[in-house]
Amino acid sequence: MSQDIDVTMSEDRLFPPVQEFVDKAHIKSREEYDAMYKESIEDPEAFWGRIAECFTWTKKWDRVRNWDNAPVAKWFDGAKLNITENSLDRHVAEGRGDKVAIYWEGEPGDSEVITYSDLLERVSKAANTFKKLGVGKGDRVAIYLPMIPELAVTVLACARIGAVHTVIFGGFSAPSLVDRINDCSAKLVVTSDGGYRRGKVLDLKAIVDEALENTPCIEHCLVVKRTNNEITMKDGRDVYWCEQHEGVSSNCPAEEMDSQDPLFILYTSGSTGKPKGIQHSTGGYMVGTATTTKYIFDLKEDDVYWCTADVGWITGHSYFAYGPTLNCATQVMYEGAPNFPDCDRFWDVIEKYKVSIFYTAPTAIRAFMKWGDEFVDKHDISSLRLLGTVGEPINPEAWMWYHKKIGAKKCPIVDTWWQTETGGVMIAPLPGVTATRPGCATMPFFGVDAAIVDEKGNEVPTGKGGLLVVKQPWPSMLTNVYGDTERYKEVYWSRFEEQGYYLAGDGAVKDENGYITILGRIDDVINVSGHRLSTMELESVLVAHGLVAEAAVVGYEHDIKGEGIAAFITASNNVDQSPDNRDLLKKYVAKEIGPFARPDQVHFTDALPKTRSGKIMRRLLKDIAAGKELKQDLTTIEDVAALHKLVEKVQAELS
Ligand code: WT7
Repeated sequence: MSQDIDVTMSEDRLFPPVQEFVDKAHIKSREEYDAMYKESIEDPEAFWGRIAECFTWTKKWDRVRNWDNAPVAKWFDGAKLNITENSLDRHVAEGRGDKVAIYWEGEPGDSEVITYSDLLERVSKAANTFKKLGVGKGDRVAIYLPMIPELAVTVLACARIGAVHTVIFGGFSAPSLVDRINDCSAKLVVTSDGGYRRGKVLDLKAIVDEALENTPCIEHCLVVKRTNNEITMKDGRDVYWCEQHEGVSSNCPAEEMDSQDPLFILYTSGSTGKPKGIQHSTGGYMVGTATTTKYIFDLKEDDVYWCTADVGWITGHSYFAYGPTLNCATQVMYEGAPNFPDCDRFWDVIEKYKVSIFYTAPTAIRAFMKWGDEFVDKHDISSLRLLGTVGEPINPEAWMWYHKKIGAKKCPIVDTWWQTETGGVMIAPLPGVTATRPGCATMPFFGVDAAIVDEKGNEVPTGKGGLLVVKQPWPSMLTNVYGDTERYKEVYWSRFEEQGYYLAGDGAVKDENGYITILGRIDDVINVSGHRLSTMELESVLVAHGLVAEAAVVGYEHDIKGEGIAAFITASNNVDQSPDNRDLLKKYVAKEIGPFARPDQVHFTDALPKTRSGKIMRRLLKDIAAGKELKQDLTTIEDVAALHKLVEKVQAELS
């Protein structure tokens, strides 16, 4: 298959940072960026070694970067540390213990202010509690919690004792929990009775109970009381957070970790259907996330920073739990939905805490646009000085709205491209330097040797789309797929094995300024509201249902979500193809994978459009779902009559 990507966009508006911003920025000029970037690529050991000197290590590294055993990199090889000594103890020791770490805002309107001293104490207590429950260095802990302070505390408490955390987003269903818990044989699961979402209580413990019937590795389930809904507790297995914390010491010495020791595993959809446990290690991840946080958000002592991402995704790991705390930032953590009690909740929170840096997803921005300017106008959001986006390409229309309506035309927007695998931001504007362009992620960060290549690995000319690769290792990179190094090598490094390039799986294009625009995934993964879903995973779930013979799932252009999910089904014999059954399949997918995976469209068809070699023509299905005219060559299709029938049917069903 050809990887050529047609580039039809043209966007030439440029927005240089305002002088007031530049004057105070960490990095103020293109010359400064160029010099730092050059050194980071030509002499990464000098560049990162100097930055790493600013952290607390219990033993210094023998080598900054060891790439001898490529593609497994060892950053700060030989060094020893604990990441929480850097994100907590260090600040308290420097006399910053009274600085606010987290302004927590619950959905019902309750709130908490947590200083760095408080956070250290809470993390230490939780760490001792985990130890009491038999968790030690190297053990895996699954975390299934709403966005409450205990989530931040649990993540850091695991890191404190060297346990490997795997956070599972609260929207995942019981079968998804089972897969993830069993894949990494977690010993402990930390959850809550429930969580608030749009005023309703989500019964998290009941979902965990269902999952734990099929997870023999779990010894204990630790339950935080949040919503006080009725739950069942299983004797010997389930224990309450508050009861376990009683009488526990608030002093917990940090476990000394090797720089290469795994810090966490985070599952992401893979194209074979089985979720991949992306593994990150300690030293490199720390240095990488702390550095990107400082420069890309231009973070300063008096900023109030708010990243809206849930800790269940990598953004909540790198740009809530770790990067900002490593920088002793003051942050906002919000529990609930952006439209509860009304569509102005985010602007209300920004006004209440005087948020200066706001980082969210394009899908949220499109929803705000749709809800209307009047919700923004109710609030004074003039504390904002920098905006960010992440998760998917942002369409220029949404970018312009964000720039004008939220940023008052003065806040730089950092459109940050990165992945669960990269651990930290890879391509993004430097806010005091880069003239931004709507929809464009712009420049590679320090140490990111990004290139756009053709199938053979040769760089494509300016203006031509190709495959985005990274030519050298970088500090916050993944170090493995949990328990499956072969898969790690195969998925990320085999395509350009000879050259030793990391394959990002995205298409991209570079312009004459060196600006990189991301064009989207090159494989069959759907990005819905910033969540990456594998079509294979969705299809295998559908096919497991009695009504379904065969399924093809595609993403299609969706105004709000970026991509919607459309499922095309050939039914089992004698199946009633009624709207009721189409609905039933939507609900079934939501139950099996999670509500965010619920298909927007389900269509029955007599046959799926396939090439003679049997490959489903996904591009074609995308266009059908989006209601577009078909421009493809249809001559290779096996059953053209069935296709025409399908097009007619979908048009009728969508209208
Ligand atoms: C994929 C990674 C990075 C945290 C959230 C998603 C897409 C991400 C951008 C952006 C265009 C983007 C890419 C990438 N993506 N950020 N700024 N512009 N596309 O993490 O689930 O690992 O997904 O999200 O396709 O490969 P993820």
